[in-house]
This record gives sequence, C-alpha cells and structure tokens, in this order.
Amino acid sequence: MWITLCRLSDVPDEDVLELDLDGHVYCAYRLAGRHYVTDGLCTHGVARLAEGFVIDDIIECPMHNGRFHIPTGRVDGPPACEPLRTYPTRAEGDCLLIQLPG
Ligand code: FES
Repeated sequence: MWITLCRLSDVPDEDVLELDLDGHVYCAYRLAGRHYVTDGLCTHGVARLAEGFVIDDIIECPMHNGRFHIPTGRVDGPPACEPLRTYPTRAEGDCLLIQLPG
C-alpha cells in the first residue's frame, strides 16, 4: 500500500524532515537528489532522529550518538544495535509516497 507522506518540495536537501502520520513518526531525507524515508524514532531509545544530525548518508541520534545508514537503515555506530526501518519511496508530482506493508 502506497501512501502520501509529504510534499517533495518540503524535504530539505542533505537534511531531514520529521513527519507524524497517523501517530507514526517518520523521517524524510533528500540526499544527492534521491529521497529516502526511515522511521523517525531511534531503535535504541525514544529519541527523535530529526533532532540529530545528517552527515553524508548517516543520521546520528541526538541522545547517545548512535548512527544509522539512511538508505538501508543498518547500524553504523553504537550504542544502537537494531537497524532502523526504511521504506520504499516514489514521487508523484510534488508528492513523496512511501510503501507500507500490507
Ligand atoms: Fe538513540 Fe540511544 S536513543 S542512540
């Protein structure tokens, strides 16, 4: 199931935008012109990743500096050990869509 998450033009270049949709927190990124979406909460705690830092293709958690690879969600640095969920994305006009399971 594809759902509209936000407008493409709202997603900042080389940075992150937090979105809350139906009570779920997401992070949307545009890196080198490509769009990515991950869950918005760190898998180590309840920190909001959008309050952290985007460094190239890495998001660094603001609480304990755990790091995740944005395109794949894999852990790039401790103390996080669970990967971050990522979502397939596509563009339709000025809308950024993500694919949810089911
Ligand atoms: Fe993100 Fe601990 S809450 S690294």
